[in-house]
Amino acid sequence: MEPAEGNFQFSWLDRVLDLLHARGIQAVLGTPTSTPPAWLHARHPEIYPADQRKYRLGFGTREQRCLNNPAMRDHGRRIVEEMAKHYAEHPAVVGWQTDNEFAANLCYCPVCAEKFRVWLREKYGSLEAINAAWGTSFWSQEYSEWSQIPLPWQVKCGDFHNPSLQIEFRRFQSQATVEFQREQVAIIRKYAPRHVITHNLMGLHNSMDYYDLGRDLDFVSWDNYPITPWWSGLSGAALAADVMRGIKQRNVWVMEQQNGITGWNVMGRRPSAEWLRCAAWQTIAHGADVVVFFRWRTACHGTEQYWHGTLNHDGRPRRRYREMAALGLELRELSEALNGTIPRGEVAIVNSYDQHFALDIQPQAEGLRIWDQVARYYSALKKNGLNVDIVPLTVDLNRYRLVIAPSWHILTDEDASRFTEYVRQGGTLILNARTGVKDRVNACRTEPLPSLLRDVVGIEVDDYDPLGKDENKIRTVKGKEYTVSVWADTLLLKGAEGVAHYADSIYTGEPAITRHKFGSGTAYYFGTFGEPALYDDLLAQILDESGITGRMPLPEGVDANWRERDGERYLFLLNFNDSARTVTLPKGLTPLLGNSVSGDSVMLPAYGVGIYRSSPYTVRAQDAGRTLWSAQAPAKRHDARAKVP
Ligand code: GLA
Repeated sequence: MEPAEGNFQFSWLDRVLDLLHARGIQAVLGTPTSTPPAWLHARHPEIYPADQRKYRLGFGTREQRCLNNPAMRDHGRRIVEEMAKHYAEHPAVVGWQTDNEFAANLCYCPVCAEKFRVWLREKYGSLEAINAAWGTSFWSQEYSEWSQIPLPWQVKCGDFHNPSLQIEFRRFQSQATVEFQREQVAIIRKYAPRHVITHNLMGLHNSMDYYDLGRDLDFVSWDNYPITPWWSGLSGAALAADVMRGIKQRNVWVMEQQNGITGWNVMGRRPSAEWLRCAAWQTIAHGADVVVFFRWRTACHGTEQYWHGTLNHDGRPRRRYREMAALGLELRELSEALNGTIPRGEVAIVNSYDQHFALDIQPQAEGLRIWDQVARYYSALKKNGLNVDIVPLTVDLNRYRLVIAPSWHILTDEDASRFTEYVRQGGTLILNARTGVKDRVNACRTEPLPSLLRDVVGIEVDDYDPLGKDENKIRTVKGKEYTVSVWADTLLLKGAEGVAHYADSIYTGEPAITRHKFGSGTAYYFGTFGEPALYDDLLAQILDESGITGRMPLPEGVDANWRERDGERYLFLLNFNDSARTVTLPKGLTPLLGNSVSGDSVMLPAYGVGIYRSSPYTVRAQDAGRTLWSAQAPAKRHDARAKVP
């Protein structure tokens, strides 16, 4: 779009957009700042980011830019302004995606160093305040000039800098990305106020604060590639989808949904049509209102030649084209019924990127990662067919009967009073080991753990053992044993009762999991990390105690989620197994898609999708007498082929 400085060329894109418009296709434009051109780098080599060794990265892929760099900012604003002016009134354009898959600007260049110091000065006011808060007397690190404050550059001690310096750097560079985006958002809003603005987030990515990034957007979008060579598979895509929906607590778009074989130099396996359909419906079940597939035609050039699209390199409609077309038709047929529905949970897992930063900087024991912990609870909840909201602590917790806070490591006074009030007013709270260890600047708190929350949970951490991969056993008061690992807090009861005790170590007999009545509510403390059965069993008990009804036990590999609107509920069932599964359903559900209910259960074929409505729905006149969705879904999808040009 700008092949040479100041020479803006939009005619090629105009042609594409005109063509889309003529075919009734709407477009979201991406701003191109993730791929600055070679001429810009030649002119401003200082745009290249520097790594922790201060080594400047070079040209050749993408994202080779420091978002704090003034020339980058300048040229970023200019291209976005030119685009926004040019396309504000184009009839095909409905919105914008800022840049691409933002991460924290983890650059270590001199501009970043200088801006970091200015940022710290504004935040702390004086060097005395920094020295006091960070405890810089340790290893003679007191700063007497602002210029002495380093970035966490790689030095003799590796990157083990002061944890306070490190967390502030993470926050600063997260904020840098937010500000970079904010400039683009302001320009687009000025020239194209009728367009929506979104960004494609990366699910469980955690280098930056997604709540801050989301604040400036109309809605969040995200990219979903469940079958890639490097996918972690943590609870499938369901967890990522719920994290994404929780960023703004509203429905999302999927901006890039996998629709074929993925990979750059090495490819992942070829997904089946049934799997692709099931994976797409899963994102909708968890709150997507739009699913955009990536990509249209597989690129013949460049790094992503083997990241497959709807069309292969030859550009001819083949198998995937027909599969996508059939799915498109199915989505279109159901879209009116589902329009305006949203998922909503009675259970919340609270999330904060500060906790991710702190545990990334000092994991303390192998396996002590926030998403791993979230996944333990999340999987147990999802096996019961419950919706789970994953939200920041700033939401009104009182709308949930159960709140789970995995390792709320950095605990501020405000956080503590939110948790405390929630339990006092009748909520059930689950806290985990390593809660309340640090203050806002990542320095250790001096109260007994879990510091400000010990009255709520009625315990004190007496000592701990960072188990990592080593295993221990716990035994519940009911006599059942479970294997635990990662971490073991030993607890002193200060009003709480023991739910489980260690059974195989120097601390055998000491409490590991506790329960405490506080105010009108209940607080659990899990001092250790168990095998899945521990969460399955204890959460079943805790859900019952907290009055959460509607549990629907699901077979392994079947995901379920509800969307609702005006008291009407829609159950989505997704069978990710390669053979059929039967699910027992609550009473009164009628199918919109998939097999009909027989007795109180339904059979889902391999990779089958079922959507069930909880109360009578008025069928549109033109649909009366027509079974739109049924066990004959494959045949229906076959029919669809004929209708697509
Ligand atoms: C990401 C990016 C896309 C593309 C795909 C495939 O999700 O947003 O630009 O690179 O991955 O690799």
